[in-house]
Parts: sequence; structure tokens; C-alpha cells
Amino acid sequence: MTKAMPEKLTMEKLVSLCKRRGFIFQSSEIYGGLASCWDYGPLGVELKNNVKAAWWQSVVRQRDDTVGIDASILMHPRVWEASGHVAGFSDPFSTCLACGRNWRMDQMGETVRCPECGGELSEPAPASLMLETFLGPVRATSQITYLRPETAQGIFVNFQNVLNSTRKKLPFGIAQIGKAFRNEITPGNFTFRTREFEQMEIEYFVKPGTDEQWFNHWVTERFNWYINLGIREENLHLREHSKDELAHYARSCTDIEYLFPFGWSELEGVANRTDFDLRQHANHSGENMSYFDDQSQERYTPYVIEPSAGVDRSALAFLADAYAEELDDKGDLRVVLHLHPALAPIKVAMLPLSRSEKLVPLAKEVYENLRRHWMVQYDDAQSIGRRYRRQDEIGTPFCVTVDFQSLEDNQVTIRDRDSMRQMRVPIAGLGACLAAKLGGEPFEVLPPGGAYWLGF
Ligand code: GAP
Repeated sequence: MTKAMPEKLTMEKLVSLCKRRGFIFQSSEIYGGLASCWDYGPLGVELKNNVKAAWWQSVVRQRDDTVGIDASILMHPRVWEASGHVAGFSDPFSTCLACGRNWRMDQMGETVRCPECGGELSEPAPASLMLETFLGPVRATSQITYLRPETAQGIFVNFQNVLNSTRKKLPFGIAQIGKAFRNEITPGNFTFRTREFEQMEIEYFVKPGTDEQWFNHWVTERFNWYINLGIREENLHLREHSKDELAHYARSCTDIEYLFPFGWSELEGVANRTDFDLRQHANHSGENMSYFDDQSQERYTPYVIEPSAGVDRSALAFLADAYAEELDDKGDLRVVLHLHPALAPIKVAMLPLSRSEKLVPLAKEVYENLRRHWMVQYDDAQSIGRRYRRQDEIGTPFCVTVDFQSLEDNQVTIRDRDSMRQMRVPIAGLGACLAAKLGGEPFEVLPPGGAYWLGF
């Protein structure tokens, strides 16, 4: 029998793995699915929560100059007039007069006919990306508002609230994670471009004149965040926006792009929004949106540097970058997700060698201990080899096996996902050992009884 050989990742493979293993399902699948909407399954929600926690840790908890908020999705409709979204948040689109497909004309290059059927295209017209909704139970008297197209405006309108309640001084940032909605003309590429997605945004307020320096700071910080969480540097690059692709609020913007299986595409944008938003809100609301700088004794409207990342795109990039097909030492193919331990949905799998009544109590006891600290999965179905493969495929960094010898010597076997190496460790030291590894330390074999074994 010929053995399978490693192949390159395609989107089809990634979509199939995500469905098969419970990362991502199509929304409303039993009704035929809702285009461009996706549901995160048991592993997907863990991955996504881990991405958000890693971001929050890095931009809020580990910085003295940033605080977080959680603003509501629904906002006063005048917010979107002031922000320029009602008038200007649109993409030029044309419809094919033959097959009825819609196309974004700014992505078509020189093409003047339908790329699908070659049909004639309608005159390009702007299509608003705003998703409208109605507030109030009676349609006739209800108010039209929008599902926010970016989380940023929830931050701008709270600028003075945060300033007054935290007594922060410039430069400082406000961070937020939340859902955003856009009526995209051409959603696609799985979770890359959808109509409902999640953003992780920081609005970083600075003194005008220092904006370029802070812009560079944030581009570097954010680029390194992806690298530190395991994305290979050759798969990331920076791309500066040309003047004609800048959003209506931005003076400059640099995208952090990832080499997805479908090509280089935006993961995150870092924009210099100047004082555009605060000024617009000051003008439209009549409220004071300026800042008094007690060092320079000046009052001014701060400039804003905005690193804006997508949770779904980040999760997709982490999955794609982690995916590998490898041959093991027997020449068998294994699919493995080399996810950073901080992102892995399951940190440890507890695998009793068999379902023997003798083994189960010990396996369960160790499992109960570990799950107080991490997301741990107990798996006793099928052979140990198959169980290792299942855990490799979902990116579990460590498997712990309890066998009959464990009953005698109080030791278990830890198996490392990436090297597939195994080592015996005393159960008492398992917690300390795994804690060091799951914190991202390199996997090295230390002798039992060494300083490492601190007990649980
Ligand atoms: N507040 C600025 C802003 O919203 P953006 O470049 O339009 O800027 C920021 O969006 C990030 O949000 C993108 O880099 C991407 O990661 C994510 N994003 C935007 N539109 C998306 C969509 N339709 N589907 C999934 N993610 C999206």
C-alpha cells in the first residue's frame, strides 16, 4: 500500500479540518447555510478566546498606558453621521447584467466584464457597507440605527468618560474587543471576509506632532505580537496604503499582511486617524473633546493611532501557520497543528492506556488535578497511537499517559506534540513541569528529582 505524502495546505483542507474537528461550522447549516456567516465550535471558541486573551494581556494588562472598555454594539445613529460612515463608508460595485453577480470594482483592476460569465456590467455605484436595524417594537415609530461597522467609535465617544474616570495622561490608549458588522459586497475565503466579525482595536491618543513616532511604535509592537505567538516571520509583511486606498478618516495606514493559502492579505491595519474622529464628534455633539496638557499648559485635540486587528482573521492565520503534514519515524503521515501553547484549545490530553478499572481512578485523579489549571481533555477511546494523532491534529501541546507501571512507581508519561518525544515524570511534579512548558519554555528533559520538580 502506498503511503500518503505531506502536501501543502489549501483552504479546502483547512475548512475541512475545521469542520471535522469542531473549530468552525457554517452558520445555519441545516437550512443550507447563511452566506459568509460562520459558527465557532467547541475547539474554535477556545482558540478564539485564547487569541483575545493573548491580545488583552499584551495591550491592556502589560501596559501602564492602556485601559479597556466594552461599549455597546448599538449606538446613537448620529455617531455614524459624525464619523462619516453614513455618507462615506461604501465600496463601488457593479452587477453583472447576465448572471446577476455583484463585483467590487476597486478590486477588479482593468477588468470591465463579469469575471464569472463574461457578461456586461452595470455602471459602478457606491454600495453602503452599513447594516441597518430598527430600535423599538413598532416598526412605524422605531428608530433606524446601525450595527456598528467598527468598534472604534465606541471608544471615541467615551474618550472624556475614560479620561475623567481614570485620570490618564497622554499618551494613552483605550482598547476594546467586540463584534462589528459590514454588508460586504464580496465576502469569502472562509472566515477571512464575513458580514459579522470580531475586532480587537486600540485607539491610542497622542500629542499632535508625536503621532509618527507612536505610529512606528505600534506597527512594530503589533507585528511582533504575531511573531511571538508563533507566526513564521516569512509569512508576515508590512504594506503601506497608497493615498487612493486610505479610509476616509486616515492620513496614513500600514497593513500587517499574512500569506494565507489564497495569497497575501490584511490581518491588521495600523492607521493614523489624526484628530478626525474627536473633532467630528465635538462638532456634531457640541461636547468638548479636547485635552488639557498640564505639562505644556496647552489645550488641543489629540491625534489617534489605531491598531485594528480582526479576531477571526488572526485565528485563521494562526491555524493556517500552525498546520503541517509530517512523516513520523515510521514513515506515517501525521497532520499536526503546531499552535503556540497559549493559543492551543486543549492544553493537555489525559490518555489512560486502557479502560481497566485499575487505571481509571488514577487517571481521573490526575485529570481532575490538571483541569483546575488548564483546558484538559480526557480521551480513552481507541488505541494510544490514534489518540496521539487526534490530539496532534487539534494542536494539543502535551499528552499525559497513565499506564500499569504508574500504579507501581507513581510516574506518568508526558508526550510532546512537536518533537513526539516522551518522558517519564513523577506525578507529584507533573503540575510544575507542565506549567513551565505551557508557559512557552523550550521542551527539555530534566532528571526526576532535579530542582524542577517542585511538587504540585
Ligand atoms: N477601525 C478601523 C477599521 O475597522 P478595517 O481595516 O476596516 O479598519 C480592521 O478593519 C480589521 O478588522 C481588519 O484588518 C480585519 O482584520 C478585520 N476585518 C475588517 N473587515 C472584516 C470582514 N469583513 N471580515 C472579517 N474581518 C474583517
